[in-house]
Amino acid sequence: MEDQESISFLTQQQAAEIDDLLIGHLGFSIDQLMELAGLSVASAITEVYRPSKYNSVLVVCGPGNNGGDGLVAARHLHHFGYKPCICYPKRTPKPLYAGLVTQLESLSVPFLPIESLPHELVNFNIVVDAIFGFSFQGNPRPPFDDLINSMASLREHNHERQKSPAIVSVDIPSGWHVQDGDISGQGIKPDMLVSLMAPKLCAKTFRGPYHFLGGRFVPPSIIHKYKLQLPPYPGTSMCVQIGKLPQVNLKAPIPPKLLEKNVEANPFVQFQIWFDDAVAAGTNEPNSMALSTASKDGKPSSRMVSLKKVDQGGFVWCSNYGSRKGREISENPHASLLFYWNILNRQANVRIEGFVEKVSDEESEQYFCSRPREIQIAPAVSKQSTEIPGREFLQQQCKELEEKYLRGRSMIPRPQHWGGYRLLPERFEFWEGDESSVHMRLRYFAQDVDGKKEWRIVQ
Ligand SMILES: Cc1cc2nc3c(=O)[nH]c(=O)nc-3n(C[C@H](O)[C@H](O)[C@H](O)COP(=O)(O)O)c2cc1C
Repeated sequence: MEDQESISFLTQQQAAEIDDLLIGHLGFSIDQLMELAGLSVASAITEVYRPSKYNSVLVVCGPGNNGGDGLVAARHLHHFGYKPCICYPKRTPKPLYAGLVTQLESLSVPFLPIESLPHELVNFNIVVDAIFGFSFQGNPRPPFDDLINSMASLREHNHERQKSPAIVSVDIPSGWHVQDGDISGQGIKPDMLVSLMAPKLCAKTFRGPYHFLGGRFVPPSIIHKYKLQLPPYPGTSMCVQIGKLPQVNLKAPIPPKLLEKNVEANPFVQFQIWFDDAVAAGTNEPNSMALSTASKDGKPSSRMVSLKKVDQGGFVWCSNYGSRKGREISENPHASLLFYWNILNRQANVRIEGFVEKVSDEESEQYFCSRPREIQIAPAVSKQSTEIPGREFLQQQCKELEEKYLRGRSMIPRPQHWGGYRLLPERFEFWEGDESSVHMRLRYFAQDVDGKKEWRIVQ
């Protein structure tokens, strides 16, 4: 994550000038910039709010470009697995906007009448504020003034985050002054701000937990002309997180998650909620887990593996079947998994115990094919847990294989000794602790009821 201190912020005039340059000399069209902006917003939302938990999204669109960004974002969110709805009370009669509406209608994305909001806002998991962008000046007029007030009061309405939608603002929280921010103090307080191109000055006063930058299209001539300092985008990502996570006051009590009302009857659902929290908090490699196995004479061993998938059947990872863990599992299928996440000073761990079985060949094939090509090479040469003449020996073997397959442009076949394992849980233990030394524990035990697996909960 980039430190906000080292990033450039734009005035309203600079933002307008850069827009003109992009669309003038630099050959961009509004359609292109809008597409990239909307895709960035949808990508940033996906980074933090998983569709499994935050499925229903309301996108509130204003009459200008910001509203267009919202329409594009809604289309991408639909394809990413969310269920978006649109509120677009002042439609712009230009072909670009009419086309975006047609695209959404063809996906059966509903357009809601403005009268049905503000009461309905609380029923959404996410509300995207795409009403006004950086060219807005003055005070919001009807019908947007009421909508903005309703969004602003969402935070006061309900402080229990699960029941109140997350608010995501596109470029500028609507109603804020582009440079001075929320002057009245009564404006929208978004949870996420997605700045586009470069953050505008008002973003300096943004206090929500997630600030992202999107719009990965700024050419070097603009960067030089305006002496812009912008963070690099990771890999092929359309967005990058900027700004620090909010500092947690260690003395303030951290609300425990494991209150009775927060306990799910199904431990897989409970797991998914904690996992999503760990992802949202930016935990490093939240899918890393310690796997403990034991030999047939009960001697234990542990190592880290990466969770590939969790479904109602169990927890899947991939490995070398001939490794030490592979040998131990074949002798003794009992194993235990342990996740540990430090979520903003809430330490959480989940222990899962059960039986391990190999996944089907077809499933292993799928996991193998989903790996990038260069990573497919490693299992083909790796003889895990065995002695080798040295690191160079393995590197040489990788090189030879790479050349062989790259030359032939053929598929790298899955080695028979590589595949997936699934742990079928019999028992879960969720534990959390914080600075106040108040520790909570929640256990689930599988029991057979008339041939059906049911979960007994012990707190
Ligand atoms: C964060 C992390 C993730 C790992 N993920 C895997 C994995 O998914 N599969 C795997 O076989 N090894 C993985 N490893 C390597 C194992 O920890 C271990 O060194 C290797 O599998 C050999 O273990 P064994 O000799 O006990 O069988 C990972 C290591 C780390 C540090």
